[in-house]
Amino acid sequence: MTLSAEAIEAAKIDALAAIAGSDSLETLKEARLAHVGERSPIAKANQQLGTLSPEDRTTFGKILGQAKSALNDALEARSAVLERERDARVLVEERVDVTVPARRTPKGGLHPLTILTNEICDLFLGMGYRVAEGPELEAEWLNFDALNIPADHPARTMQDTFFIEPRELNLVLRTHTSPVQVRTMLNEKPPIYVICPGRTYRADELDATHTPVFSQVEGLVIDKGITMADLKGTLDHFARSIFGPDVKTRLRSSFFPFTEPSAEVDFFFNGRWIEWGGCGMVNPKVLVACGIDPEEYSGFAFGMGLERTLMVRHGITDMHDIVEGDIRFSQGFGSGVK
Ligand code: FA5
Ligand code: MG
Repeated sequence: MTLSAEAIEAAKIDALAAIAGSDSLETLKEARLAHVGERSPIAKANQQLGTLSPEDRTTFGKILGQAKSALNDALEARSAVLERERDARVLVEERVDVTVPARRTPKGGLHPLTILTNEICDLFLGMGYRVAEGPELEAEWLNFDALNIPADHPARTMQDTFFIEPRELNLVLRTHTSPVQVRTMLNEKPPIYVICPGRTYRADELDATHTPVFSQVEGLVIDKGITMADLKGTLDHFARSIFGPDVKTRLRSSFFPFTEPSAEVDFFFNGRWIEWGGCGMVNPKVLVACGIDPEEYSGFAFGMGLERTLMVRHGITDMHDIVEGDIRFSQGFGSGVK
């Protein structure tokens, strides 16, 4: 441009308009480049100063200096406004809502049946018992024969028992925890005080009070002078510890080939009596089969269903809830970790 006060004023007005019209830091940067950058009219005018007479150089130098400083002031002021706007926007857009629920990794917990099993084991450990275990895949002889259950006993038929193929192996999925009694008596000398929790299997349909895979807890005591009164006292203490002091239980005379006399223990729940387990004095024939002298020792045994124990204690009306593994059911019992 030809250097003149008017031209410089016009360039300045242009520049101020561009600066004022910038609506973001990006457009302001463009305005700065175009109007005060190296190729801007003002910069070009400045380059021409050298070609002027000393007098003109002073005059135009002053005008240009004022214009540049006005533009720099305008740029600074606009930049401050735009930065404040940006900061305010970022605060809103990137706001962190501290009230949003945090994503947590849920802690695992024990199944209610496991919690109950631990509680029963603790109870009996406190009375001087030991915890014994046996395999779920059991020798047919230990599950039946050694317990005085003959080959033609109905419990042995295909309807109740899961037999394992090939049949020559004579293996079954244990139908109760009683074979652990036999294992214990074969391996240990009396006095014996054991509690044996574990999973058991029967070809029962899943319904409100039955499941084909269930749990039992077996108790066995062999010592000198053990009587039915010891059994009754132990069962009463067991029932009251688990269900509370007001629990209603009853002994109903029954038959098990491995106990004599035998009884069924029932408890009262939801307006009716439900079978809790079986019990009795260990049959002398079983003691003999296990190498224990029935003249010297006597003992009692009992076996309870744990699912049914849990149902009564917690008012669960349907066995499905216990076996189906819905975590919402288990959560109500706590983690069970002490
Ligand atoms: C027995 O299994 C004997 N072994 C108990 C026993 C032990 C008697 C020691 C004498 C001495 P029974 O078949 O009645 O007995 O089963 C015992 C308990 O297991 C039942 O009372 C019931 O609580 C539970 N039970 C049996 N079948 C099922 C099933 N399908 N689902 C859930 N619980 C079951
Ligand atoms: Mg029964």
